[in-house]
Amino acid sequence: MSLTAFLAEQAPQITAIRRDLHAHPELCFEEVRTADVVAAQLTAWGIPVHRGLGTTGVVGILHGKDGGTNGKAIGLRADMDALPMQEFNTFAHASQHAGKMHACGHDGHTAMLLAAAQYLAAHKDSLDGTVYLIFQPAEEGGGGAREMVQDGLFTQFPMQAVFGMHNWPGMPEGTMAVSPGPAMASSNEFKIVVRGKGGHAAMPHMVLDPVPVAAQIITALQTIVSRNVKPIEAGVVSVTMVHAGEATNVVPDSVELQGTVRTFTLEVLDLIERRMEEVVRGTCAAHGVQCEFEFVRNYPPTINTAPEADFARRVMAQVVGEANALPQEPTMGAEDFAFMLLEKPGAYCFI
Ligand code: NI
Repeated sequence: MSLTAFLAEQAPQITAIRRDLHAHPELCFEEVRTADVVAAQLTAWGIPVHRGLGTTGVVGILHGKDGGTNGKAIGLRADMDALPMQEFNTFAHASQHAGKMHACGHDGHTAMLLAAAQYLAAHKDSLDGTVYLIFQPAEEGGGGAREMVQDGLFTQFPMQAVFGMHNWPGMPEGTMAVSPGPAMASSNEFKIVVRGKGGHAAMPHMVLDPVPVAAQIITALQTIVSRNVKPIEAGVVSVTMVHAGEATNVVPDSVELQGTVRTFTLEVLDLIERRMEEVVRGTCAAHGVQCEFEFVRNYPPTINTAPEADFARRVMAQVVGEANALPQEPTMGAEDFAFMLLEKPGAYCFI
């Protein structure tokens, strides 16, 4: 039976799994029920499972006709966690847990990889090598991919390449996309505290006002991407939180600024972090106020290797047709699949 015919026949069962997961969303590293559902399905289809990498991770081990002896192996990865937000949908499978929702579609990713597992298990006699089915926890800020790698994902399950996929609302129905190079950006956070000396707002000569200093910093930070980063490179510096003051007639002691930085390369990230610290410390020094500067690197950029991206595109073309296998413009969102791509060749795809 053809791939699409098989999947169409199994669609009601896979849809039911997705809706069950959607109704029972679990947050970072709490995906216990979800992992149980995944492991039970894989087992029911005759696929051995390994559990516990990265706390709640599940790896299905699917050997092809060689029984795992020829050394050829790839990984297919899905993320299982939900987001801490309230669902307002009213359909029957809406979230049963207040404040938790599969709003990023990882219930779909989990169901999609289960569907692939079911198909591959039914056709393993024509499979030349091994497929590791990687169900990871905590993509939403928890770095579940990093945890699985640190727990030995690639040493316990040696593979030549790894592939992941995200749903992408806005793409035309029936299309898939992948490109070589950067798919998603590195994600980083900063916190700046400008410390002056508060006092009565009617007597500015008696205080050390941190507010105009913070205002200058916010503006000056926007010159880093426009004046320091090479124009054909990409970078984002966004100040997203500004906290100071409690009264109209009181100058506050300090102003706290926080925000995010996104880049596709380590070189641009190094440059932005260095320039930010120079701008912050220099501006504070010029005004005689103290400052604190913290910069935290969360997720690295997600970089697709060219041969694997090209391989994925050719596979997509077989499924959806050449005209519907599209190039993917990089986005400044971030994705912890990046940690797997630091270790193995591979590609992150979109559907
Ligand atoms: Ni997501």
